[in-house]
Amino acid sequence: MIITIDGPAAAGKGTLARALAAKYGLAYFDTGMVYRAVGLQMLLNQNNADDEKAAETYAKNLTFPLMIQLSEHPDFRSAKGGKAASIVSAYPSVRKALLKMQQDFALNPVFKDGTPAHGVIYDGRDTGTVVCPQADVKFFITASSEVRALRRYKEFQEKGIEISYDEVLKDVKARDERDATRASSPMKPAEDAVIFDTSELNIEEVLQKACHLIDSWQKKLEK
Ligand code: DC
Repeated sequence: MIITIDGPAAAGKGTLARALAAKYGLAYFDTGMVYRAVGLQMLLNQNNADDEKAAETYAKNLTFPLMIQLSEHPDFRSAKGGKAASIVSAYPSVRKALLKMQQDFALNPVFKDGTPAHGVIYDGRDTGTVVCPQADVKFFITASSEVRALRRYKEFQEKGIEISYDEVLKDVKARDERDATRASSPMKPAEDAVIFDTSELNIEEVLQKACHLIDSWQKKLEK
């Protein structure tokens, strides 16, 4: 079984993806990590943000173990790291270089400890449209920019990262704009995706609706 969950930053994709992965025993691939890994290397090596060639080289040389190693760095999930990831993710050459690594995961999905899984949940921006258009069930999770900024702001506060709500909101809007307008695979729901707006729904409600759809899909298969 392959499930894709796409949508803008802080819409609740990760929470839903982890809950579904646990419930259905699926491996989980947070595809934002590949872009964060490239963005972080740009920061660590002091490359200019507009140096597409450097970003492409990091993308071409990225492996799973390197990505996991980079994910331990404090800037991997910081606002600075998120901005660097967003910038490199707009480069067509970077997206192209990272596509196979993301697609290959569905051929051989594994849990974090390396044991094989019978399926995968992808979480990202273009996983239902570009990475895995053949997925069995697709979701597109969204919420207003204000609601998403407030969630991110609270996450930063919990981690002790100092940043104002206004700065987070500005950043969320800038990332949305970059995600939606980039030339190569701009973020949009797949035609066959089910869309949830989590501004008004809590995670339990979203999870319930998502499980209902997955169960119906599984029942149809059994017939
Ligand atoms: O989901 P995230 O915040 O970790 O993603 C980091 C950046 O990567 C974000 O700005 C958008 C980009 N991204 C993308 O372009 N395509 C994906 N499938 C996943 C993330």
